[in-house]
Amino acid sequence: MNAFVDLKAVIAAARNACGTVYLVGAGPGDPELLTLRAARLLAQADVVVHDHLVGPDVLAMIGPHARRIYVGKERSRHTVQQEDINGMLARLAREYACVVRLKGGDPFVFGRGGEELQALADHGVPFEVVPGITAGCGVAAYAGIPLTHRDYAQSCLFVAGHLKDGSCDLDWPALARRRQTVVIYMGLAGLPNICDQLVAHGLPPNWPAAVVERGTLLDQRVVAATLATLPEAVESAGLQSPCLTIVGEVVGLRDRLAWFEPRTGVAATAETRPLVAAGA
Ligand SMILES: C[S@@+](CC[C@H](N)C(=O)[O-])C[C@H]1O[C@@H](n2cnc3c(N)ncnc32)[C@H](O)[C@@H]1O
Repeated sequence: MNAFVDLKAVIAAARNACGTVYLVGAGPGDPELLTLRAARLLAQADVVVHDHLVGPDVLAMIGPHARRIYVGKERSRHTVQQEDINGMLARLAREYACVVRLKGGDPFVFGRGGEELQALADHGVPFEVVPGITAGCGVAAYAGIPLTHRDYAQSCLFVAGHLKDGSCDLDWPALARRRQTVVIYMGLAGLPNICDQLVAHGLPPNWPAAVVERGTLLDQRVVAATLATLPEAVESAGLQSPCLTIVGEVVGLRDRLAWFEPRTGVAATAETRPLVAAGA
């Protein structure tokens, strides 16, 4: 046996040693909607890189020794540019064994998860993906709006209300169809245009539509109206981002199916989440 250690080989191996980046979905807000795998990784992480959509209750699940890096990314107020985040993740993987990239909802639904993984693949960094509950599913559930229903909607579209350059160029004829639900992410700023276009392309002005602000959180607010009245109702309620727009006859079911009782003004913590359904 050779008693001498090949120092050059040890140093080269150390240089090439690389941790794993876990791209983790944090769900829409309520920390109880995290997957078991997400919760376990947050507890074990050496470093967590997170966005503005991840709330304090989810961040509280990060282990006490982990480094936290906030990279922001609110609409038109990007704290750190996407290219810089991509490079940062690759660098952190050279430094730490367990790097968690934590994103609101699901990382692969309007979350730029694909772009970040492409960059990691370019750098030869190993990665895994932990899906989360996307806002479309979680927020609709807490608003009492089933996305499909055999009597009203046999399909459901998830669309982004604005493109990378801020414009809104949607396939209006495909969206303005009956017997389907349309879920619009990032649609608050363009809401009047979205409602106008859907009516211009064939949906009746009295077609049900709703906007949900901070869905699944204890200060969730829902404004349900029609395509004709929604923009004004949302403006007078003063709804702010994050908001999800849901269009379709299923919105009408909310009158009977709304179960979640928000407590406006109460900080959203797991301890204070309501245990009793509305009307119980
Ligand atoms: C950049 S997208 C990220 C979507 C995320 N990856 C997901 O799967 O839910 C951000 C948009 O998601 C929607 N959103 C996320 N969380 C929300 C919440 N708790 N309530 C309402 N809308 C939400 C809003 O439309 C917001 O502008």
